[in-house]
Amino acid sequence: MQIIDGKAVSASVRERIKNEIEILKNAGKETGLAVIIVGNDPASKVYVNNKKKGCAEVGINSYEYALPEETTTEELLELINKLNGDSRVDGILCQLPLPKHIDEKTVINSIAPKKDVDAFHPVNTGHIMIGDYSFLPCTPAGIIEMLKFYNIEISGKECVVIGRSNIVGKPMAMLLLHNSGTVTVCHSKTVNLAEVTRRADILVAAVGKANFVTADMVKDGAVVIDVGMNRNAEGKLCGDVDFEGVKDKCSFITPVPGGVGPMTITMLLNNTLTASKNNK
Ligand code: GUN
Repeated sequence: MQIIDGKAVSASVRERIKNEIEILKNAGKETGLAVIIVGNDPASKVYVNNKKKGCAEVGINSYEYALPEETTTEELLELINKLNGDSRVDGILCQLPLPKHIDEKTVINSIAPKKDVDAFHPVNTGHIMIGDYSFLPCTPAGIIEMLKFYNIEISGKECVVIGRSNIVGKPMAMLLLHNSGTVTVCHSKTVNLAEVTRRADILVAAVGKANFVTADMVKDGAVVIDVGMNRNAEGKLCGDVDFEGVKDKCSFITPVPGGVGPMTITMLLNNTLTASKNNK
């Protein structure tokens, strides 16, 4: 069994991004990312801080907009509208989830597609579906990048994704399909889940429940990718996969932390670089 080191893959991709940002800067083009956070969700604060740190590491200017919990949809739309027209800002990221009273769909739809570095806008999700895209969905793209780094073949493989969210499950299925995998998407209504997951050569868990994937659900020699970011009863960060139980059964596995997480942020930086190049 080999551990997929998301930090190592991330470092190599960030080096390339940093060089490209530097080249743009020398040609007079600075690159900027606006990061919006609404309210006080502690996990979101950690993610946003890591995104800002990632920007600093590769030379992207980040502009943080930390808004109070009681911000209205209209106020948020007004800010996004201003950032859509701000030439310093190549990318706009609005951290999800938003407080319940804010209309998330309207907010996502208001970000100019060319600045939508999360690739959540329907225009960009449509491009992803067709396979013709400039912005990659960050978490799925990070996973594909890790598989490629470790020379893990996707073409012709049985790929099973657990979870059908718009952020991870659905775009993950699309990218695996574009790479010629045979893709199955499972969810809470799937019957005989373990039977389906045991077919997987590549198993992606994006469920949001600690230790959801157990050894009996994994085929011998499978590649197991854990997208989960959960806290267990002791408050320790853990993924969706029972790592200790599963690790000896698989050929490759991503740890939590240090697997998918760092790659997601790296792909956000990569999308911001793309936005900056397109915005020259
Ligand atoms: N919340 C959880 N994951 C993400 C992400 O990739 N982007 C944003 N904006 N919010 C998130």
